[in-house]
Amino acid sequence: MSLRRLAPPDIQPASFAFNAANADWARAQIAKYPPGRQASAVIPLLWKGQEQEGWVTHPMIEEIARLLSMPFIRVLEVATFYTMFNLAPVGRYLVQVCTTTPCWLRGSDAVVEACKSHIHPHPHTVSDDGKFSWMEVECLGACVNAPMLQIGSDFYEDIDGPLTEKLISDLRAGKAIKPGPQNGRRVSSEPEGGALSLKDPALYDGSVIGKFVPRAPAPPPPPPDTEAKKPTQGASDRESPKQKPPGAAT
Ligand code: FES
Repeated sequence: MSLRRLAPPDIQPASFAFNAANADWARAQIAKYPPGRQASAVIPLLWKGQEQEGWVTHPMIEEIARLLSMPFIRVLEVATFYTMFNLAPVGRYLVQVCTTTPCWLRGSDAVVEACKSHIHPHPHTVSDDGKFSWMEVECLGACVNAPMLQIGSDFYEDIDGPLTEKLISDLRAGKAIKPGPQNGRRVSSEPEGGALSLKDPALYDGSVIGKFVPRAPAPPPPPPDTEAKKPTQGASDRESPKQKPPGAAT
C-alpha cells in the first residue's frame, strides 16, 4: 500500500465545522451507538466531512476527534488507512479510473491516458481550470462492463480512450452526461449487441409463455441388432461357467 499523508500545512484550511444539516446528521449517527462506543461513528463522520469539503482536512480530523472523544491520532489512522478518503484537494469532478485486472485487460490504460491528456499528467492533481482531478482505484464492482470509471457517485461503463475524452469535454462544457454503459448497452449486464438468448426460432417459439417446440422430429429408434449383442461361446463360458451336477467328477 502506498504511503498516505495529509496534505501539507500550507494548503490546509484554518478550521472546519459541519454545516447545520450535516451537524444534525452527525449527531444522529453518534446517537446510534451505546455510551462509550461513539468512536464507531468515525467512518460515517469522515465520509460526511469529505462530502462537504471534497477532501479530509487536518482541522476536520481534529473536529471529528473532539465530537467522538477520540485521540487525534486514532482518527488520523482511519483517514490515512482507507483510500476512499481524499487527503488533498480534488477537482469538482473527481474521476476514479478502475485499473484492476478485468478493467486493465479491457483497456483501462487508454482511459488513464485520456485522463492524463485532458485533466493532468499526474493523478491527485487538480486540473488548471479547477474542475477535474483523477486517480486510479481498485475494482469498483462493475467488471461486467469493464473498463469503467466513477465520477461523483455515478459509474460510466464500457468506455475507451475516446469515450473518456468525450465525458471529460462534455462535463467541461457544462453538458449533462448519462451514467451507465457508454457503448449502447441498454442495461449494465446485457450482452454486447443485445440479448440473443431465446430468439432463435429453432430453440423457442417466440412467445412469452411459449409452448414447447421441438427442434426437429424425434429420430426413429434404431433397428434391433441381434448379432452385435450375442456373446461368443467362449465369452459366455468365461462369464457364466456351466454348473456341474452334484457328485460329478472334476
Ligand atoms: S475490475 Fe474494474 S470494476 Fe472490477
